[in-house]
Amino acid sequence: MNPSPLIIQGGMGAGVSNWRLANAVSRLGQLGVVSGTALDQIFARRLQDGDPGGAMRRGVDAFPFPAMADRIWKRYYIAGGKGERTPYRAVPRHAKDNPAELIELDIVSNFVEVFLAREGHDNPVGINYLEKIQTAHLATIYGAMLAGVGTVIMGAGIPLKIPGLLDGYVEHHAAEYAIHVTGAEETDDTTAHFDPREYMECELGPLTRPNFFAIVSSNTLAATMVKKANGRVDGLVVEMKSAGGHNAPPRGKMQLSDAGEPIYGERDAIDIAKLCELGVPFWLAGGYGHPEKLREALARGAAGVQVGTAFEFSEESGLREDYKHALLQKAIAGEAKVFTDPLASPTRFPFKVACLEGTGSEPDVYAARPRICDLGFLHEPYRTPEGTIGYRCAAEPASVYVAKGGSADDTAGRKCLCNALLANIGYPQVRNGSRTEQGIVTAGDDLCSVPLFLPPGQSTYSAADVVAKLLEGAAPSPGNAANGVHDHSRSIEDLSCAELEAV
Ligand SMILES: Cc1cc2nc3c(=O)[nH]c(=O)nc-3n(C[C@H](O)[C@H](O)[C@H](O)COP(=O)(O)O)c2cc1C
Repeated sequence: MNPSPLIIQGGMGAGVSNWRLANAVSRLGQLGVVSGTALDQIFARRLQDGDPGGAMRRGVDAFPFPAMADRIWKRYYIAGGKGERTPYRAVPRHAKDNPAELIELDIVSNFVEVFLAREGHDNPVGINYLEKIQTAHLATIYGAMLAGVGTVIMGAGIPLKIPGLLDGYVEHHAAEYAIHVTGAEETDDTTAHFDPREYMECELGPLTRPNFFAIVSSNTLAATMVKKANGRVDGLVVEMKSAGGHNAPPRGKMQLSDAGEPIYGERDAIDIAKLCELGVPFWLAGGYGHPEKLREALARGAAGVQVGTAFEFSEESGLREDYKHALLQKAIAGEAKVFTDPLASPTRFPFKVACLEGTGSEPDVYAARPRICDLGFLHEPYRTPEGTIGYRCAAEPASVYVAKGGSADDTAGRKCLCNALLANIGYPQVRNGSRTEQGIVTAGDDLCSVPLFLPPGQSTYSAADVVAKLLEGAAPSPGNAANGVHDHSRSIEDLSCAELEAV
């Protein structure tokens, strides 16, 4: 049984919550979570950079199917690293039916990230996926389970069919996942398939079934997940609108403030008492990166908090050092700004963007970028006139998107987050030997308060500084000393809302 963490370090894609950050957090007894988004690209690029430090090699050496690992290594590894002006080689894009080469890369890359996050300690580690990236799930989740991932956390969609998938993978059973295809007809084949046994090089014993936590932003979705999922939902992460990354859109017709940000109203508020009635532990997220907010969350019946932004600016995170430093300086100077962009993301979810000179948050920097779409993580599967499945992205060249049946209006303001997010973590694509992709940094509204975690006299802070500061909110205070709020060595199953409410 996994211990119940007071703090979940939120998954931050792509590659911001990498194995190093998750390892540091899990070692401290809280739940470190690696991002599972685009790990295939990230892993392939790390190998093309020559695997500085040798961590990828350690992970690959631990992989249970050596021939597969060897194929991937030989395909992507470049001793000493590729030239600075040499582009990274292309990785096949995801589709309903993925080529074996991509499936193997998905399995190995997800295995390695989780393996490294678990290395050197015995505490659980989680992995975060976006439900929207459906065409990657079958192989990536299997790879993470091969490495013994403790919790799968999924949001950006309604992951009703993931718990059953986890159950089936315990015995390496074949799995399928229904892909949402715009315009699909009832008789179309839109289901992806994956049989682990076609890839296993040896017999393996049963795998451990990870916990499954769904990320929700409404009471309705929380209840749907708990009551209608095809297997056990072990927890809920309840994410509010100030969280970094993608946000749930406001209910009803989208209305914008004078500054152009979505306006949220009373209908978007979450009824915490109702959440308690579901009888499933939950963690509050989005502006909960403060000791007082942890205290408040516990008092309201939550098992703890999920925090992203505070960890994003810690020494261990994968965010590029120059971006991290510049934004931390802005926060210290009281000049940090985060804009909730209703259009930037091709997913159509609002997306938080930190304002930073030289990045795609500046209109002229982004406008100078040719509209190239070559990664396709956020693409939309659609039915072609011939009845096959095509893939389009509202951030690709508008004429191409329209030729694929998309609406020209839909392309306005869309940004290529795939390339920007890889640039954010130091793996920017180089084009024509000269142009380098620029990042677009996402952060929560809490960006302005991250200096709270700086130890006196220091200009950077570690994940341990964040954990220590947040846990001050769980320390017994005069009101709750006798109760010893949350012994976090207890299991998730042991925690009940009624018990927590009594605190
Ligand atoms: C840089 C960054 C990237 C994020 N990426 C993801 C993601 O890939 N998947 C996800 O479910 N949540 C993502 N989030 C949300 C976090 O997991 C977490 O819920 C959120 O940051 C909590 O709110 P806070 O930022 O106010 O602490 C991201 C947040 C940040 C700051």
